[in-house]
Order: sequence, then C-alpha cells, then structure tokens
Amino acid sequence: MIDLRSDTVTRPSPAMRRAMAEAEVGDDVFGDDPTVNRLQERVAELTGKEAALYTVTGTMANQTALRTFVHSGHEVIAEATAHVITVEKNSAATLSGVTYRPVAGERGLMTPEQIVEALKPDPLDVRVVDLVAVENTHQVGGGTVLPIETLRAIRKVTQEAGVPLYMDGARIWNASAASGVDVAEYAAEVDALMFCFSKGLGAPIGSILCGPRDFIREARRNRLQLTGAWRQAGVIAAAALVALEEGPGHLQEDHANARRLAEGIAEIFPDAAEPEHVETNIVFVDPAPLGSTAGDIAQRLKVQGVLVTQVAGKVRMLTHLDVSPQDIEEAIAAWRRLAA
Ligand SMILES: Cc1ncc(COP(=O)(O)O)c(C=O)c1O
Repeated sequence: MIDLRSDTVTRPSPAMRRAMAEAEVGDDVFGDDPTVNRLQERVAELTGKEAALYTVTGTMANQTALRTFVHSGHEVIAEATAHVITVEKNSAATLSGVTYRPVAGERGLMTPEQIVEALKPDPLDVRVVDLVAVENTHQVGGGTVLPIETLRAIRKVTQEAGVPLYMDGARIWNASAASGVDVAEYAAEVDALMFCFSKGLGAPIGSILCGPRDFIREARRNRLQLTGAWRQAGVIAAAALVALEEGPGHLQEDHANARRLAEGIAEIFPDAAEPEHVETNIVFVDPAPLGSTAGDIAQRLKVQGVLVTQVAGKVRMLTHLDVSPQDIEEAIAAWRRLAA
C-alpha cells in the first residue's frame, strides 16, 4: 500500500527504535525524566523560547495553549478552516469554555487587515478576544506557508491591540524547509508555538509547546488538568530527539514528491490539481472535474493500493518519509487508470 493519508503514518526509523530501547527514563510528573528534559531543553534552544512542554499530541499542545491563554467565555481569532476550529472547536468549548471569531482566509492565510478588523472591540463589550492563532503551514489551505513578512505584520497588529499571538506550527519544519526561514525566526514573532514530532519529522508520537517560562509553568498545570501528565515518557521522547536530527533534512524531498504528484495528476486532469500552489507536502485534488466525489475516488484508489483521505470535499494526499519518488510514480499511474 502507498499510504498518502497523512504524514503521521510513518514508522520509527532503526535509530529511533534503538534510542527508544536504550532511553534513560524517570517520572516526568516529578520532572525527573532526563530524556524528556533533554528534549524540552533542546527544543527551547532550537526555537529560541525560554521553555518547552512535551505533549502526547498536537491537539493536546493546542488545547493546553488555548486553556492557558484564553479565559473561559472569551474568544480566539483564527482562520475559519484552521485545525483549532475545524477539528478542535468542540474540545476547546467543552474543556476550556473557549469560542472563536473565525476569519475566512485565502488558502488558509489571514491578512493583517482582516485581523485588525476582527480585533475591533465589541461596542456592547460582550465578546472579548484573548488570543490570535495562526497555522503554519496551513493544512486545509494546502500546506500553505505563512510568509514571515505577513507574520511580522500580524505580530505588529496584535502587539498594538495587546493580544497575544500563538502559532499552531504542527508543520513548522515544512514551512522552514520551503521558505528557508529558520524555525527560530518564526518563533520570535509569536508568544508561543507548538509543533509535532509525529508528522514530517517522522517520530511515532508527540508534539511540543514552546513559550516563556511562566507560560510553560502554567501550561504544565493545564496539561495535567487535561489528563496529559505522564510518567516515563522518555521512552518516546528519545525517538523525538532522533526525529529532530533526522527529520528536517528529508523535508525538501517530501515537497518535491508532492509537487511531482500534483503535476502528474494535473497532466491527467488539468482542472483537478493546482501544482503551482503546492508549497510543501500536501496535495488537494478537486473531484468535480472527474465527475466524481472525493469518497468515490478514495475507494477506487484504495483498490489500486493507494490510500488517500477526503477533507473539505476534496481528495487529500500527504507525502512523508515513507513515500519514495517511485511510490509517487505508482500513485500517478493509479490516478491515470481512473481516467480510463
Ligand atoms: C495543523 C494541525 N494542527 C494540529 C494537529 C493535531 O495534531 P495531532 O494529530 O497530533 O493531535 C494537526 C493534525 O493533523 C494539524 O494538521
């Protein structure tokens, strides 16, 4: 099977498995796990933030951040198709009483002007915004990179309004590989950010929230309230440390594979894919030009050994460490057979 459903499906590398087997561990609730501590310190150093907190998922990192930044009953400005809204809004509402002020972006990108508008105080003083959240890369937007200049302009706007800025950087390493902008440069423009080890970097489990020391202390308490305190997590933190070494260097190849996939599909179905918009490792295909639905196409590709998902009415495919250029050619051949 060629599994393009997500970049989360990768299997741990031999070096990760060795590191996991040999990991030095302790009880992280007591702050005693040396491998978790090493991971958190390493990420703080890489991002230029004071501290970091290892979490089991990206969703938990986002939810911990929201709970730490936002008062119950207050709002977050985020792009309408951002993960924190589409997948997490019910979690945010039920776990922390957080609601949203959604802004419709272009391929997932909000403009600073839209944020200025959304930040305007409610004349009745009923709705209060506590946080602006951006997503980089933007998943549903098609793996779109948030340009550093736009982020800086958004930063200026939020600072003027006195509202903190958070980044869901689940795929920030993809953004960095595509743009050449260092992860620390993105991190410098936000109050806090999270990223995932379990996506393009190839680790089996885990994400990390980074920010100022006081924020992370509070976030640690909130992670516990969200039932995310854990014990000998060093067993998997060891794989995350390896992912930080092995992962970033592979991302350019993932991006080239994604572009080739989109180009191959666009040659067969010209209006279905937009290779010019493939900036990182995510490819969306519109099923309409095929006279079909995303669900039907997913089924027909599966029969041919290619796994994809359907998101927002489109076929979604992600490239990752376990997909080779040869796999991409085979996937394109499967799409070609759909035309027959
Ligand atoms: C942009 C974005 N943020 C957050 C998440 C959540 O990560 P996790 O699946 O580890 O909870 C995802 C997962 O796909 C994502 O794409």
